[in-house]
Amino acid sequence: MKNESFRISVIATIIQHDDQVLNAISNHFGSSKMAFSLPRAPKRYCRGSKFGSLTILDEITSGKFAAVFSCASDKGEKFALKEIRGSHSTAVGELLCVKEKLSNVHLVNLLETFSSQHGTLCFLMPYMRGCELFEMAGEIDASSALRITIGLSKAIRYLHRHQLVHRDCKPENVIVDEHAEAVLVDLGTVRAHGVTAMVHGTRAYLPPEEKGRKTHVVVPSLDAWSLGITICSVLLGEFVKSCADATQKASRRPHVAALICKAAVLLVRDVTDRRTVPQFLNELTDFESQ
Ligand SMILES: Nc1ncnc2c1ncn2[C@@H]1O[C@H](COP(=O)(O)OP(=O)(O)OP(=O)(O)O)[C@@H](O)[C@H]1O
Ligand SMILES: [Mg+2]
Repeated sequence: MKNESFRISVIATIIQHDDQVLNAISNHFGSSKMAFSLPRAPKRYCRGSKFGSLTILDEITSGKFAAVFSCASDKGEKFALKEIRGSHSTAVGELLCVKEKLSNVHLVNLLETFSSQHGTLCFLMPYMRGCELFEMAGEIDASSALRITIGLSKAIRYLHRHQLVHRDCKPENVIVDEHAEAVLVDLGTVRAHGVTAMVHGTRAYLPPEEKGRKTHVVVPSLDAWSLGITICSVLLGEFVKSCADATQKASRRPHVAALICKAAVLLVRDVTDRRTVPQFLNELTDFESQ
């Protein structure tokens, strides 16, 4: 695997501004000159494709910007492979995380970065058996709810401690693995705290101060809000929009009502009064011992 791998982690300068990051990536890959003006469908992986010792087993998801496949090594180990389909700019966050050598049990682990035989940028990860948190909405028992809330909060606290902000925390980007632990995936939108970047993320999970903006200064309070919407919505089994909405609806799920009300503190509109994720985690620990 290693010889074939084209490690992008050598990009030494993942730096303070999106534009600079993009330049660094495109310089690294060289600019490809188009021989023909006719559009041509890009060659991509599909079931049965081979890449070195890896065989593609199945497509997990396929979107405009990326596809995720399950694959197996010739030793029978199972992995997940994310192939970037848009420009490499959609993988800035992943490249940033590779460079920072992040490692946390609640955060997807990017093992290898390489360029496929089709020239697409790929990330290899351990394959996680489990399901998306999205699929569990409205059906989570009290102890799993607390465990998932703590795990997901720890993933975000870990990123924030590394001066990084995820910017797309939502139930589709959380896998509850075979050990019932929450693991945050999809690091493509990660950016450094304090940089100016295009607003990414999913509209419904964006805090009120971000709505309607094209660019923003990346701050951790963004993740606090998205975490609050994610937790309250999956515990309730219906989408919540605000702190008041969450607390009003909490009694519909008596077994997790107290936890919904607790997570609603992340949904304070005024950023200066909004709990930070580390503060929320400390309060959760008190809650756990009650
Ligand atoms: N390591 C993994 N193991 C198992 N399934 C995974 C893994 N990583 C991702 N997935 C699944 O693939 C889905 C898509 O992955 P991801 O969120 O990273 O890509 P995406 O949303 O398509 O990409 P992007 O938002 O960057 O365009 C996840 O929601 C999850 O269900
Ligand atoms: Mg995703």
